[in-house]
Amino acid sequence: MATYKIKIWRQSGPQANGHLERHVVKGIDGDMSFLEMLDHLNEELEEQGKEPVAFDHDCREGICGACSLVINGQSHGPETTTTCQLHMRSFEDSKVDEITIEPFRANAFPVVKDCVVDRSGFDRIIQAGGFVSVNTGNAPDANANAIAKPDADSAFDAAACIGCGACVAACKNASAMLFVSAKVSHLAHLPQGDAERRERVQAMVSTMDEEGFGLCTNYGECEAACPKSISTDNIATLNREFIRSKIGSTT
Ligand code: FES
Repeated sequence: MATYKIKIWRQSGPQANGHLERHVVKGIDGDMSFLEMLDHLNEELEEQGKEPVAFDHDCREGICGACSLVINGQSHGPETTTTCQLHMRSFEDSKVDEITIEPFRANAFPVVKDCVVDRSGFDRIIQAGGFVSVNTGNAPDANANAIAKPDADSAFDAAACIGCGACVAACKNASAMLFVSAKVSHLAHLPQGDAERRERVQAMVSTMDEEGFGLCTNYGECEAACPKSISTDNIATLNREFIRSKIGSTT
C-alpha cells in the first residue's frame, strides 16, 4: 500500500475563484484505479465532515467519456487511456512526488464545480448534424448495403471516439476539430451518411465555432491525448468535406 501526495482543484461553483488543495491519501494499492483513489479521498473527507471533491464519471469502463481530469498536466494522465482506466501503479515510478489534478481547461468547457466541467457544447455540435435522418423500422438485412472494407474500417475507427474532450483539453487552441472530424468522418464514409453530408459538416463546424472552440493549427496534441487513438487524418477528411460542401462538389 502506498501513500500519495495530491494537489486537487477546488472550486465551489462556476463563478467562484478556484484553488489547488493539498491532501495526503494513504492505503492506495497499485491496482486501484485513479477514480478509486479519489473515492478513497472523498471517504476520508466525509469522515472529517468536509465537502468531498466533485469529479465526473459514469461507466468506469472507458466507454462513456465522462471522466475528465488533467493529471500532472496531461489529459487523462500519463497513459493513453481514460482517467477511469488509469491505475495507481502508473505513478509508482513517477519522478513527480505530488500528483496535480485539475479539470479539463477550455473556455468552451466551463467549470461547474471542482473537477467537473460542462461539456454540453459537444452535445450541441452533435445535435447540429452528427446523425443520419432515417425512418426507423425493422433493422435492415445484414449486408443489404455493401460497404467497401477500407471504408468500413475508417468509419469504425472514427466511430470509436467517445467524446471525452481530452483532445480539447490537450490542445493549446482548445480546438474541437478532432472530435468534430471523427463524427463527420464516421458518417462520411458510410452510404447512410451521404445524403446529408454537406449540411452536416457546415452545421457542425459552425456550431463548433459558436461554442467557442478554437481552430486546428496542427499541434497534434489531440491525437497524442486521445484514449481511443483517433487519428488527425480525420481532420484532413473534415477539411475536405467542408471545402466540398462550400463548392457544391459531390465527389
Ligand atoms: S467513466 Fe466512462 S469513460 Fe471513464
